[in-house]
Amino acid sequence: MSNRKAEVFIDGNKVMDLPILIDTMENEALDIRDLRKQTGMITYDPGFGNTGSCQSQITYLDGEKGILRYRGYPIEELIEKCDFIEVAYLLIHGHLPSKAERERYTQLLNRHSLLHVDMQSFFRRYPEHAHPMSILAAMSVSLSSFYEINVDEDPELEIDLTVTRLMSKIRTIAAFTYRKMRGSDFVNPRHEYSYCGNFLNMLFSSPVVPYEPNPVHIKALNKLLILHADHEQNCSTTAVRLVGSAGGGNLYSAVSAGICALWGPRHGGANQAVIDMLQQIHDDGGDVQKAVDRAKDKNDPYRLMGFGHRVYKTYDPRAKIGREICEEVLADLGIKDPLLEIAEKLEETALQDDYFKERFLYPNVDFYTGIIFRAMNIPTNMYTVLFSMGRLPGWIAHWLEWRHDPFERIGRPRQLYMGPTARSVPHIDERE
Ligand code: ACO
Repeated sequence: MSNRKAEVFIDGNKVMDLPILIDTMENEALDIRDLRKQTGMITYDPGFGNTGSCQSQITYLDGEKGILRYRGYPIEELIEKCDFIEVAYLLIHGHLPSKAERERYTQLLNRHSLLHVDMQSFFRRYPEHAHPMSILAAMSVSLSSFYEINVDEDPELEIDLTVTRLMSKIRTIAAFTYRKMRGSDFVNPRHEYSYCGNFLNMLFSSPVVPYEPNPVHIKALNKLLILHADHEQNCSTTAVRLVGSAGGGNLYSAVSAGICALWGPRHGGANQAVIDMLQQIHDDGGDVQKAVDRAKDKNDPYRLMGFGHRVYKTYDPRAKIGREICEEVLADLGIKDPLLEIAEKLEETALQDDYFKERFLYPNVDFYTGIIFRAMNIPTNMYTVLFSMGRLPGWIAHWLEWRHDPFERIGRPRQLYMGPTARSVPHIDERE
């Protein structure tokens, strides 16, 4: 809170002072909590572009400068110095784990990684063409039937257990959705593997061909999951907080809502859409200018997927890291992917174009990640599943923060009603 206030005038008359709040990075916000009480008015902000829905200590991002930090640590440093589990721990617990905490956490994740056998049978009933995101969302909420959350006895202990179960079992569920798609038997997690190594083993190991997770894949997966681990009040995290705000303490259902929100192509589903777009450009002869022209045409719904962001008005730092990982992984694996060449040309062409410059449209996190997943032999419809695995600790951290927020209330926006005024119901014979 600062001593400064914003005066609100309506028709020339001062109606109230709005307090100005200042966050730890010196950004200012108008506190409108008493606005309706004092003026009878609400604010109108479709898409919540100007609305701060909570106070948070988890992630800081500066969209003008291209800065992203988890709990104060720059994303670039976390990517280099930590693995995904350390970053997940940081987001969820608020501090980086010590060696002992890290070891204990690994043991806990291993212990809770199996799925109830009855739950395993659910997977078999989905049709072959089912999108893995639909299975992931359904299985996440189903966890609440198999692993009940009993908050009556020791709520904090119970929530802790739920968080660990979710972190561990989501990986098993994600791997099983892939095996289901392939028509292969499920592979259970094994204690000797790391979190990412275990996931790759569950995806790719076979009883007839020897398989050992490739260290290049493990390293890339760790980096990618860290890159996706949190992004403050984005669409899916807001969905998680909103579902949480209805009460009941069911983390599984809130996370399932987050998965559903993430699936959309304007959000996490963009990573799959980018590859579809690049493939289409490739199959069409590789004319990137044509794609840029289509994206600019207001009569064409076509957009450059993996481009643009609500908050970043400069290069998304995650896209920069994504491009570096992509080039590194392809070089390490000795792969030459024509889609990378198209992506780089497309980026260059768009960034020189006035339409993109004027609107501050840059590549976002999804622009290069799909090419990395492709190099790891992961099919396109699994990309958003991997994004979900990465985002899970962020969703959990926000859900936990919401639970302890002294200002928390049920999430319930208002509206401007533009429908008909009051009228009476005509008899059915008189209706047109
Ligand atoms: N291609 C072409 N034009 C675009 C694009 C794009 N990818 N993105 C935005 N624009 C244009 C809009 O048409 C609009 O133009 P106008 O001012 O002439 O009307 C202007 O840029 C502003 O765009 P909005 O849609 O108002 O921006 P908003 O903040 O609401 O949307 C979003 C952001 C959804 C990410 C948008 O940029 C988009 O659809 N991008 C493509 C999908 C994508 O990559 N999503 C992943 C985002 S990252 C993530 O969620 C993990």
